[in-house]
Amino acid sequence: MARILSCTLAAFLLGVQLSTSAPTQETTQACTAIANALPGKVLTPGLLAQEYAYETQQYWNNALRTIHPACIVQPESAQDVSAVVKLLIKYPGVQFATRSGGHDPNVGHSTVEDGVVIAMTNLAGAIFDPATNLAYVKPGGEWNTAIGELEPSGHVIAGGRLGIVGVGGLLLQLGISFLSTQEGMAADNIIGWETVMANGSIVNVDAATHPDLAQAMRGSGSQFGIVTQYTVKTHPIGQVWGGLCLFDNSQSDKLYAALHNFMASGEQDPKAAIIFTDLILTAGLGTKLLFSFYDGPTPPTTGPFADFFKIPAIECLPRTQKYSELLFANGEFIRQTLSRSSFRTYTIPYIPTRPQMYAEIRNKFAKIVLPFLTPLRPTSEFSVDFQPLPSLIGAISESKGGNALGLTASDPDRLILEIQGIWQLPEDDAVAYDLSKQLTDWLDTVVPTWLDEAGMDRNMYLPLFMNDAAGDQPVTQSYKDYAKFKALQRQVDPEGLFSTRAGGFKY
Ligand SMILES: Cc1cc2nc3c(=O)[nH]c(=O)nc-3n(C[C@H](O)[C@H](O)[C@H](O)COP(=O)(O)OP(=O)(O)OC[C@H]3O[C@@H](n4cnc5c(N)ncnc54)[C@H](O)[C@@H]3O)c2cc1C
Ligand SMILES: *[C@@H]1O[C@H](CO)[C@@H](O)[C@H](O)[C@H]1NC(C)=O
Repeated sequence: MARILSCTLAAFLLGVQLSTSAPTQETTQACTAIANALPGKVLTPGLLAQEYAYETQQYWNNALRTIHPACIVQPESAQDVSAVVKLLIKYPGVQFATRSGGHDPNVGHSTVEDGVVIAMTNLAGAIFDPATNLAYVKPGGEWNTAIGELEPSGHVIAGGRLGIVGVGGLLLQLGISFLSTQEGMAADNIIGWETVMANGSIVNVDAATHPDLAQAMRGSGSQFGIVTQYTVKTHPIGQVWGGLCLFDNSQSDKLYAALHNFMASGEQDPKAAIIFTDLILTAGLGTKLLFSFYDGPTPPTTGPFADFFKIPAIECLPRTQKYSELLFANGEFIRQTLSRSSFRTYTIPYIPTRPQMYAEIRNKFAKIVLPFLTPLRPTSEFSVDFQPLPSLIGAISESKGGNALGLTASDPDRLILEIQGIWQLPEDDAVAYDLSKQLTDWLDTVVPTWLDEAGMDRNMYLPLFMNDAAGDQPVTQSYKDYAKFKALQRQVDPEGLFSTRAGGFKY
């Protein structure tokens, strides 16, 4: 008896320790109502617990795998999602989150403690329609699957550059692709969104029937509805060339010079694309990674793209292969990071007279993170990705109908910075997040000065890129048509279902 009691007590205490809160009665009722409407498609810690536990682990950021939703719904159709939304409307105190691939590392975006998670696990896959050259793409799964299913047709869509990344969130938060200098941002190629709106109706959003909404949905994230299928323009694909190169920091000067030169001529060869990753490791040591892509079997042997491969590398893997093989190889080595992670972004101008800018940013960040990257945190690392956003992309965006950022042909050349952190301990969260913020605070002060010194317009339009942003960054607020899209959001979601009850970036 005493033993049973002590065991129960231990279990009780353990329970208290593991979960500091519990779902509200209203949330429990909502989960029951959803389970009744969608039998067999709702997981809870009690019912279908094993699958529930599996679903809680489908997040890139390890910190999100410790979140316990009250229930997880696995819809199989737009009708299922509509039924869920109509029930959520009846339980106004219930918080919820939609998850596609779960790669957004921000707390509270695609999962929610004690709330309802709508997981797109069973709404995945892509189909090519040869009659129209369009692809029908579902939000769940990862780019490995979507591209793998499309590629045999000889057509793919602009999407993630690492195969492990989720489809749905990338397409809603704009998306930068290896194909962007040919096709624009990933979302620019979407011409139809099958969407469950805030009133529970299933609406096929397109430019003909909802022109403002169609533009807004290219880069507004989760705020206009839950998308159950995208209709997307495709890009013909054959063998491509590309892969990863790893350099040590002794090659920094040459690499930054090559990057600057590539930025200057991004429009000359739209088939070439790169991600330049500046990695800062323990004790401030570093390496540099170059993800490279060329849309064809043979890369050029001269010019700014070719120059990268003349720099001595520790290892350099580019080869001729299938597009799907390239995406797979790019992502697989970081599939299981088992780390806590953060994203933060900044859009910087390309300043022709400031070739030292990349080193200045890298060195500043190295200085900021140095005290954190002690041998006591050997597996922690920080990085800055330099991602070219040439003016050419704005021209394509505009020609395809435009997006929420309002990228246009008259845009300047810019770079999207992706500032990443990886660490292990929950106790380090606040400090680690702040390190990336210190860098963007510094950029706030130096970028206008750099523009002044270069004789460039210090009010240059530098909207933030949602897919790489931290949850506290004013992403939509940086869009030039913020007021217009905010009004539109309030119009289609008057009760604030998405703006007050769901995760994600807000208007
Ligand atoms: C390793 C790695 C590589 C990356 N590479 C790229 C890249 O090449 N290009 C790029 O642009 N980005 C890249 N990203 C960023 C990536 O696009 C974002 O993390 C994006 O959110 C991932 O999509 P997801 O489906 O996994 O998102 P999730 O985490 O599932 O969702 C992100 C947000 O969108 C909302 N959402 C998701 N699905 C829906 C839906 N169906 N309806 C309504 N709202 C929804 C969620 O509620 C959440 O707010 C990368 C990220 C990682 C971790
Ligand atoms: C639901 O909202 C959408 C978007 O505002 C609207 O087009 C549709 O008519 C609404 N449906 C109903 C039944 O009110």
